[in-house]
Amino acid sequence: MDPVIYFKRAFRPEPEATISVRSRALNYGLGCFGGIRAYRTDEGTQVHVFRLDRHVRRLEQSAHILRLRLPGSVETMAGIIVELLRRNEMRGDAYVRPIVFANSNELSPILDPETSETAIFCAPLGRYLSSGAIDVCVSSWRRVRENALPARAKATGGYLNSALARREAIDHGYTEAILLTEDGHVSEGSAEHVFIVREGRLISPPSTEDNLDGITRQSLIALAQEDLGIPFVERPIGRTELYVADEMFLCGTGAEITPVRSVDRRTIGDGQVGPVTTRLSAHFEAVVRGRVQARHAWLTPVW
Ligand SMILES: Cc1ncc(COP(=O)(O)O)c(C=O)c1O
Repeated sequence: MDPVIYFKRAFRPEPEATISVRSRALNYGLGCFGGIRAYRTDEGTQVHVFRLDRHVRRLEQSAHILRLRLPGSVETMAGIIVELLRRNEMRGDAYVRPIVFANSNELSPILDPETSETAIFCAPLGRYLSSGAIDVCVSSWRRVRENALPARAKATGGYLNSALARREAIDHGYTEAILLTEDGHVSEGSAEHVFIVREGRLISPPSTEDNLDGITRQSLIALAQEDLGIPFVERPIGRTELYVADEMFLCGTGAEITPVRSVDRRTIGDGQVGPVTTRLSAHFEAVVRGRVQARHAWLTPVW
């Protein structure tokens, strides 16, 4: 059976979900997207979408920034995503990718809500980066500025910036790149936010540092402060502060919590996954697997 895709306001077999090579979306990268995870419970009897409502609201805001349009309300979109997971018989950990794009075949690069098209696909997904700690570098590429290409819009075209940084990192033997802002502050990874730990306090740069308005980041801040009593500070981080951090990890829907072992060949802490990262990772895992009753409002059942 072909995977089922949501495209042109209907569920269709994947071979029917195609666009023209002339599409502005392909030629100019005119679109925005989301990335959502669904997690199987320990008993394997249920699958929950993590923070579905927030993801769809962010997609709606991205489309709003880009003058594109979703095919329905946030509630309608959330319902379509759950239905898509059901139609694809997703009974294990899965990833959902909604994309809203300018599907006109006209030549000029113009954003026009009338040309908006939405596609959604899903697939089984395990770990995105690595199950262990990773070695990262600071990229020679700078993060695109809010006034050039807003990270908040999660725009498809903006991922050329991420892809250049990731290519360079891999070419130099690292797993991931950290991009700095034009001002030289830590912005984010190619598709992850950055947290460091110093003297027991969790620190992460605000979204005004040209990074995405992150849902995993926001969730981890709530879990740290409200559930675990770990103090959190939101403030700019300098490049060399990464080198002297006690702990560091990247986070995102794909990356979940990925500990960092070294930055630019400087070992972070003692090179082992630190106590704050370990505690937060265990709690996050318990929450997404549905083991924490108080956080059930973040989970949408599929079955
Ligand atoms: C550039 C970028 N930063 C950060 C993230 C992590 O954000 P979230 O936790 O909302 O998935 C992503 C992934 O979506 C991303 O693409």
